[in-house]
Amino acid sequence: MSKLADKTAIVTGASSGIGAAIAKELAAEGVNVVIVARTLENLNKVKEDIEAQGKGKVQAVQADVAESADVKRMVETAVEHFSDVDILVNNAGQMLEGTVRSGKVDEWEKMIDVNIKGVLYNIDAVLPKMIERATGHIVNIASVSGHEVTKHSTVYSGTKYAVRAISMGLEKELARTGVRVTNISPGMVATRLSEGNTWNGRKKLEATDIGKAVVYALTQPDYVNVNEITVRPV
Ligand SMILES: NC(=O)c1ccc[n+]([C@@H]2O[C@H](COP(=O)([O-])OP(=O)(O)OC[C@H]3O[C@@H](n4cnc5c(N)ncnc54)[C@H](OP(=O)(O)O)[C@@H]3O)[C@@H](O)[C@H]2O)c1
Repeated sequence: MSKLADKTAIVTGASSGIGAAIAKELAAEGVNVVIVARTLENLNKVKEDIEAQGKGKVQAVQADVAESADVKRMVETAVEHFSDVDILVNNAGQMLEGTVRSGKVDEWEKMIDVNIKGVLYNIDAVLPKMIERATGHIVNIASVSGHEVTKHSTVYSGTKYAVRAISMGLEKELARTGVRVTNISPGMVATRLSEGNTWNGRKKLEATDIGKAVVYALTQPDYVNVNEITVRPV
């Protein structure tokens, strides 16, 4: 039996791409998964796929992670249907117009709200209970754009550097609490988000490759905190 069996996980941005793949990998390990996004129709398709796997239970929650009231409801639903949250995967994210010169303030604000504030709201909603229980794992999906900046992605990179900074600081804050923090930085993954980018003909990663990286971090012995995983295509 997997060491993750019967644990409760919340995966945000699980209606497509990387989040859906993470949710499926976790359910395959017997985890009870709360899948979260704004589009209920897409969430329900992922729910059906997970149910068809026949392992782990799944509950869909329509929520905007940039709205703290939605985030509170998301955690309440997890507790009501399953148990206290053991695993939070902060995956919901948006990559909109990233240049400063474009002046697209509304798109920067959306990225900041979802990619940074959403991550913080989610952590805030589960962390006190994790500390009280002296167990838990927070996985933040950042990006290689949190390690490198191109002229096309200044603002997006800014948000992903922030996610890495939050992961790094939180790991220090949580030393000796029993709560672990993993930052995962994917390179180009074949999802809706990267659709327009041909990546110079190179094979992109599959979303499930990131799902497997999450399972790797979660299944290490309890005293091992895998802090940073970078996954790039060859
Ligand atoms: N694809 C890549 O190459 C790549 C590389 C590095 C990092 N990443 C990161 O990986 C994560 C997942 O991206 P992806 O490639 O899987 O993209 P995707 O297929 O577009 O998925 C994004 C997910 O986030 C959800 N979402 C967006 N805004 C939300 C909000 N305000 N509240 C709740 N859910 C929200 C979307 O669902 P709704 O629209 O229904 O809400 C969707 O489920 C992002 O953080 C992204 O920055 C991606």
